[in-house]
Amino acid sequence: MTKLLVVKAHPHVEPSLSLSIGNAFVTAYQESHPDDKIVVRDLYDSTVPALNDTTMSAWKHEKAGQELTAKETALLTRHNKWLNEFMAADKYVFINPMYNLFLPAELKQYIDVMAVPHKTFKYTAHGPVGLIGDRKVIHIQAAGSVYHGPKANSMMTKLDFGDAYLRGIFTLFGVKDFQSIFVEGADQDPTKREAIITAAKEQAIQLARKF
Ligand SMILES: Cc1cc2nc3c(=O)[nH]c(=O)nc-3n(C[C@H](O)[C@H](O)[C@H](O)COP(=O)(O)O)c2cc1C
Repeated sequence: MTKLLVVKAHPHVEPSLSLSIGNAFVTAYQESHPDDKIVVRDLYDSTVPALNDTTMSAWKHEKAGQELTAKETALLTRHNKWLNEFMAADKYVFINPMYNLFLPAELKQYIDVMAVPHKTFKYTAHGPVGLIGDRKVIHIQAAGSVYHGPKANSMMTKLDFGDAYLRGIFTLFGVKDFQSIFVEGADQDPTKREAIITAAKEQAIQLARKF
């Protein structure tokens, strides 16, 4: 059975452009893929495991074949639970607002848990090679200004580090099929808010049907 993992990185503050377009995508996907399993992982509902001193010492002890402390074992068990859910999916949807030209910190922390050698990528003598290249990704991001499309200037496009980062990480993982839906400019020009929502919803529904 095909599995879609929906990763929501939003603090649940309504109204939300990214969540409303994300929900429109998921509804259209459900309608057009009735046999697929959809799993939602809300990064603001449960704490993403951290990369901290315990993680580093656990990895070091694991690599050296040494015994792990109870704290290290508990942390790695949590890491593996999150990673296993990610690895079990065939397709991913990431939904987030832009915060200070980047992704919310929770989403960066989530990626830190997924970027694991021999799982999502591996190192070779010729550089890193992705291991999940058969997967697909949609990134849905809302921002107050305009960074993409014909109305954005190239300086603004360079400042969207969040989409570039997520795209880069999935390139490292071997994924070529990465598409983005940008819901942008509603803070900059509130008179265009409804038009921005309508256009993004239409794009989301069209992409969901073909995803
Ligand atoms: C803490 C914070 C930081 C933000 N940083 C940016 C930014 O760097 N660039 C931008 O265009 N909009 C920025 N915004 C505006 C949001 O990206 C915008 O309001 C977006 O619609 C929020 O997503 P949502 O509608 O799904 O909640 C920021 C908003 C907040 C609350």
